[in-house]
Amino acid sequence: MCECHVELYDHYNSFSEAERQLFAAAKAALHNAYAPYSNFQVAAAVWLSDGSIYQGNNQENAAYPSGLCAERVALFYASAIKPDIAPRGIAVTVNYEHHPDFDQIVSPCGGCRQVIAEYEHKFKQPICIYLLGSGTKVAVIRTMSELLPLLFSGDVLKSFSTPK
Ligand code: THU
Repeated sequence: MCECHVELYDHYNSFSEAERQLFAAAKAALHNAYAPYSNFQVAAAVWLSDGSIYQGNNQENAAYPSGLCAERVALFYASAIKPDIAPRGIAVTVNYEHHPDFDQIVSPCGGCRQVIAEYEHKFKQPICIYLLGSGTKVAVIRTMSELLPLLFSGDVLKSFSTPK
């Protein structure tokens, strides 16, 4: 059986100073989202094991599939700059400020889950997913393998890499 454990918090006071910095970085990155087609601004901040933080936001394109989600922009940016440092967490948020009636927690799309899972697999370390809701609400999922059970991993490809 697959279970997803989601921890729900109403306040940031349950979190460390470093985690609060990560949340602030994710929220700050909303301002640079480029979402003229959906008007759905998303931002993410990746927390690396060396303490550094890399921000990203969704980048849309008139040819829709050419755009990219905030989570992937942030993770690819972090990996492009520091390929040998494991991500320990990623915070994700959407533009609640401009939509006061919207109060749902937003969770990463399937493609982003697969990309987060790839970096867990690469570094053999869990990545904590912080979903920042409206105000100071936070949902925490401790590892992507909970959000993406029975995931497709690169291990499978190893058995096929040499032609028989
Ligand atoms: N989006 C993200 O940035 N992250 C997700 O996990 C879900 C969707 C973006 C992509 C697109 O720019 C907009 O939200 C609408 O799908």
